[in-house]
Amino acid sequence: MRVQWIEERLRVDTPAKLNLYLRIIGRRDDGFHELETLMVSVGLWDTLTFAPSGELNLACRSTIPQSSPIPTDDSNLIIKAARLLQKATGCSQGAAIHLTKRIPSEAGMGGGSSDAAATLVALNQVWKLGLTSTELHKLAAQLGSDINFFLDSHPAAICTGRGEKITPLPLRGRLNFVVIKPPSGLSTGKVFEKWQEHKDESAPDMENLCRRLTGGQTSIADNCFNSLEAPARTLNSDVSECLDAFSKIGHVRGMMSGSGTSCFSVFRSWRHAQTISGHMKGLGLGQVIALQSDC
Ligand code: C5P
Repeated sequence: MRVQWIEERLRVDTPAKLNLYLRIIGRRDDGFHELETLMVSVGLWDTLTFAPSGELNLACRSTIPQSSPIPTDDSNLIIKAARLLQKATGCSQGAAIHLTKRIPSEAGMGGGSSDAAATLVALNQVWKLGLTSTELHKLAAQLGSDINFFLDSHPAAICTGRGEKITPLPLRGRLNFVVIKPPSGLSTGKVFEKWQEHKDESAPDMENLCRRLTGGQTSIADNCFNSLEAPARTLNSDVSECLDAFSKIGHVRGMMSGSGTSCFSVFRSWRHAQTISGHMKGLGLGQVIALQSDC
């Protein structure tokens, strides 16, 4: 996350994520699922600006077609994050928030969570609240499962619990990805629910993936895994089409990120990723983006 004052506005650029590994351990009594996931931050950014104002409002401009319109009312995590900060601190100030959306929504790329993390960090400054990192993390965990990952700008981390417990993982060098986001989206809640019918699975060990990543290896496709991929495939045929395209065109194994619908594969070089992305763009499967991890 990059934060800078530009005259009277605070500008925050906040990234997308990909899940290289996501294993569901089980369903908890609170309805959420206990999981073990490895997330990497990638170079696709939403931009938010925050200006002090008497009222709280949000305007949004999306640079890409989205599977459904981005709400600007109280259902947007940005507004939820702002209201939670007001409630937690008794602050009655407002803000004029502007969002430039480049991260596809309903994609499993953490766009909404990243925006919420940016909001907590920014309004803590704009409203001069002085909350500590620990206090921001507590609020982030109340808002959603992926928000904590984005708060501290780790290039990669292992996330456990609901996803809110973060252990940074040092990456050696950048990873090169091609991502396909089909036009349709999926609801995270519905994909987790569907997992109940698919939970008999054999996941590879995440330790091997961590070892390869910290050792600077880029051939990691066989170590990647996602428990939500099988349920997402049964809910949305676009996911299967994208995954098949990776094996047919790229001769590589495709993976779904988070609860979908975006699918990706890892390539040994940036040049190779760009070449494959060029081939994939002609297929009409959706938005195709070559991306690198942060490091
Ligand atoms: O926390 P977040 O808002 O990202 O989650 C959206 C939905 O996904 C939750 O309401 C829940 O149905 C499901 N979920 C889950 N277990 C998790 C994370 C999300 O069941 N660890």
